[in-house]
Amino acid sequence: MDDALVEQAKEAKVEELSSLEEGSLVDLKGWVYVKSHHGGMVFVRLRDSTGLVQVVFKKNVVGKEKLELAEKLTRESSIRVIGAVHFDKRAPGGVEVHAKDFEVIGSAPSDYPIRPGVGVSVMLDYRHLHLRGVKMTSVWKVYSEMLKAVREWFEQHGYYEVHVPIFVTAACEGGATLFEVSYFGRKAYLSQSAQMYLEAAIFSLEKVYCVQPSFRAEKSRTRRHLTEFWQVEAEVAFADMWDIIEIEEQLLSYVCQKLKERAWKHLRKFRKKFTPPEPPFPRIKYDEAVDILQSKGVEIEWGEDFGADEERVLSKEFDTPFFVTHYPRQCKAFYHKPDPSNPSVTLSVDMLAPEGYGEISGGGQRIDDYQELVESIKLFGLKVEDYGWYLDLRKYGSVPHSGFGIGLGRTLQWILKAPHIRDVVMFPRTINRVYP
Ligand code: 4AD
Ligand code: MG
Repeated sequence: MDDALVEQAKEAKVEELSSLEEGSLVDLKGWVYVKSHHGGMVFVRLRDSTGLVQVVFKKNVVGKEKLELAEKLTRESSIRVIGAVHFDKRAPGGVEVHAKDFEVIGSAPSDYPIRPGVGVSVMLDYRHLHLRGVKMTSVWKVYSEMLKAVREWFEQHGYYEVHVPIFVTAACEGGATLFEVSYFGRKAYLSQSAQMYLEAAIFSLEKVYCVQPSFRAEKSRTRRHLTEFWQVEAEVAFADMWDIIEIEEQLLSYVCQKLKERAWKHLRKFRKKFTPPEPPFPRIKYDEAVDILQSKGVEIEWGEDFGADEERVLSKEFDTPFFVTHYPRQCKAFYHKPDPSNPSVTLSVDMLAPEGYGEISGGGQRIDDYQELVESIKLFGLKVEDYGWYLDLRKYGSVPHSGFGIGLGRTLQWILKAPHIRDVVMFPRTINRVYP
């Protein structure tokens, strides 16, 4: 590389180029996305973390040797280019870079496995490479913005962020989906939910949240189940189910608004329009949901839980996220508080995304009475001795409290209208995929 040129050039990212002046000398680093050549010129679409720009290599500027090197550039080779910004209506994006010099940082063999027309399984086998794709990059950016907005909302509303263990000794969401691990010879499990530990934390901090992975040995192959997924979970002392509903709708509304403001250029690659939902979201009881389903010809009896099919039908009836409350006891985990005015149902609430997507969050009010919790543990066929510390929380200054968990993958799946949850998760883990 020409030292004098390197000295003069300003390090730049692709997205900044259009704000620079014609002729500005820039120093760009990135990867070769597409290359073509004709008439003593080579055109490379260079990709960096901020976008794509066309770089033009001319023989009379870079010299014969470098032009030959440019002609041989392969897809995904990493390069550094010093060149001049040139505005040209014909260039994609209206701006291009006329290379004055360049070097190859890391060359790539010509067998890049992600080619037009390869199937889904190839893309998943090579996820470590596929994740560089321009559209995939937008997914990761929206995800990052989503997390940022989640944290902002909690910060603005007086919550403490905590982290709780992944190695645990008791089931939060039922024994069937526990991943067992050998913990120095002792049986332990991977956490299904941070909830029980967040419940412990509220006795110190009152309002807490965490962003953590959850693990479920889900044997079901659906478009919305992973074995490892991330939730944002919150728990609030002195809050009831209705308080939790308000928190969830405010949080989701804020996150969607911020995404619209800050990430529309990415979102628009996935959907034509996006209207951030405004509180209050519709609230229906489980009983009404069953009525709606039956009226649509779905065969469901009162007391049965909703599966993906039922939720799809139900959520097509709505064009904003909505809540379903008061699920029967047998549909929900042991910790849900029975409704004092009708103990066959619980003070539980799921938030469902519209447009056929279905459940994106679960939560509600917890049983806060010691004896009632003991009985519920037994009723659900669990061992009381496994819940020793959890029961202590009901012994020493128990308070009414509630919480929820929003699945980040499911939420993004809805926001990006993705057919499958794995489309929006960088390294998806499913029943038959734990590589790469
Ligand atoms: O409804 P779930 O099982 O509720 C809980 O885990 C509660 N303990 C949370 C709490 O109250 N703190 O899971 C919560 C959310 C679901 O609504 C869904 O969005 C997501 O986590 N989820 C999954 N996402 C991907 N793959 C799976 N297998 C999921 N299981 C749940
Ligand atoms: Mg659930």
